[in-house]
Order: sequence, then structure tokens, then C-alpha cells
Amino acid sequence: MTSSIVASDRTMAAALLRLHFHDCFVRGCDASVLLDSTPGNTAEKDSLANANSLRGFAQIDQVKAKLEQVCPGVVSCADILALTARDAIVKIGGQSWVVYLGRKDGVVSVASESMVSLPSPFADYTQLVQSFATVGLSEKDMVVLSGGHTIGTTKCGAFSQRLYGFSGPGAINGTDPTLDPEYAKVLKQQCPQNAPLNTVFLDPSGSFPGQTYDKGYFEAVKANKGVLASDAALLTSSFGASLVAVEASATSPFMTDFGVSMQKMGMAAAPKGAVLQVRKNCHFVN
Ligand code: HEM
Repeated sequence: MTSSIVASDRTMAAALLRLHFHDCFVRGCDASVLLDSTPGNTAEKDSLANANSLRGFAQIDQVKAKLEQVCPGVVSCADILALTARDAIVKIGGQSWVVYLGRKDGVVSVASESMVSLPSPFADYTQLVQSFATVGLSEKDMVVLSGGHTIGTTKCGAFSQRLYGFSGPGAINGTDPTLDPEYAKVLKQQCPQNAPLNTVFLDPSGSFPGQTYDKGYFEAVKANKGVLASDAALLTSSFGASLVAVEASATSPFMTDFGVSMQKMGMAAAPKGAVLQVRKNCHFVN
């Protein structure tokens, strides 16, 4: 089913991958990202990090509805997120990985927790490593999984400070000197000042710009064309820079490495003692 979803809208691969990532980083992979806000509670999906940005909810609903028809109450929303992310990547040319099943759905979703647990696009290398460590992921996992940015888009607002408001060392008229100057010009055209909602590809390389699953992201980062400050930050550590070079190389292990790290990310457990269930509808607790 994921295959037909992605066939009809190739951008869904990025959306489904990101949904799984944003799920696992907050309360483990428990589909808390799919719960709706209630009168007394703003849920993760409506946090600043996710609102008007996460996509794919309707597509997850389609998959869930189909599964509930054939085997009601068996497949959790969290397992659906893990499976659709994997199947979407395979559909656009990525290498498959084994998704272990048996995740259960949580009953709690709190917007403020997304803001604490999800890495910020302004994060430096140390902050990125810390953020991934919180869910049991290593420095290598962090660099490799950043390769998820081989697909998809970002709003200009997430990085325009690098184009117009950079005041760190070596700033060139407000532009981050670690961004390739020619590429900075291109990005400035796509992201004029005060247009925070315009979007650009995180990695425009490949036959389908922003939708080609390949090592292009690492080639871009290596060439100082990483878009987000967090992408550029990978070059600021010697470990990060050498791993970026390996992943960008002619013999890139990216496809295999990505599957290994995704499998690990998908094991992020819900907090001890959390109430868990298989939701009937991914939007609501039973
Ligand atoms: C390393 C820390 C990370 C940061 C700071 C980060 C931040 C961001 C930001 C700011 C966007 C743009 C959102 C928007 O403007 O709507 C984005 C998009 C995206 N991210 Fe990340 N991300 C990180 C890691 C990851 C990981 C680990 C994955 C998956 C394995 C991932 C997959 C994606 C995808 C696929 C998109 C495009 C979504 C779309 O086109 O709908 N990111 N990310």
C-alpha cells in the first residue's frame, strides 16, 4: 500500500520517513506523534517543531483503515510508522532493512516534549550527538541518519539566518562563511529575505530533485552545501567530517549504514511504565 501512496506522490517518501523519526525521538516509537490535541492538551503534532511541517497523516490513516478491516486491533500505529517509512524508502530506490514488529501505541502526547527531544536545525555538533544519545543512538547513527535529508524540503525559515543574519566568526555581510558562496547565492534567490515559508530541497541532486534516495546529501555536505546549520555542523568534528567523506565516496556504504541505523532508531522504547495499547484509530486513545 505504501508503494501506491508513494507512486502517486513521490514527496510522501520524505514525509513518511520524517514522521517515523519524529515519533521515535519523543517517548520512543509509540505513535505519540499521531495523537490529536484535546481541549486540555496540545499534542506533539501541533508543536512548533511539527505544525505545518509534518505530513503524511492522512496516508497513515489509509493504511490503518485497511489493516483494521482485515485484522482489527492487531497492528499498532507505531508499527505502521516504522513499516511505511521503510517501504517508502525502498519505493524510491533505497535498500531495505528488517523492521522488527510489536511496538505498542502510547496514550500521551505533549507538544512541549517535542521541543525538548527533537534536534533543532540550529544545533551544533555536540548538541546533535547529545540529542541522538537520548534515544540510544551513537555519533555514527547521528551522521548516517542525517542522510535522511537526501530527500525532502525545508522551509527557508529553518536556515535563513545563515543567509542574512549570521554574526559568527568570518561572517560575510550576514552570510555564514561555511556555506559555499555560490550556493549561498542560489539559496538567497529561493529564499528572499522575509519569505520564511518558501521551501528548498535539502539535497537537490539526482534525477528527481529532493526525491532521489542516494548519497547526494553527503556529497552536498562535503562540498559545504548542507542547507541547515545542523547539516553543516557535521563537518565541524573530525569524526563527523571523515564519516561524511566516507558516505560521500564512490564506495559509499550509505544504503547499508542507513538501514542499520534506522533499525536501531526504530527500537527506541516507550518510557518504563507507560500505558500502551494498539489504538483503533491513530488519532485517539482507545
Ligand atoms: C540531525 C538532526 C535533524 C535536524 C535538526 C532536522 C531538521 C529538519 C528540518 C528543520 C526540516 C525541515 C522541516 C520544514 O521546514 O518543514 C527537516 C526535514 C526533513 N527531515 Fe530532518 N532533521 C534532522 C534529522 C533527520 C533524520 C534523522 C531524518 C530521518 C532519518 C530526517 C528526515 C527528514 C526529511 C525526510 C525531511 C523532509 C520532510 C518533507 O519533505 O516533508 N531528518 N529536518
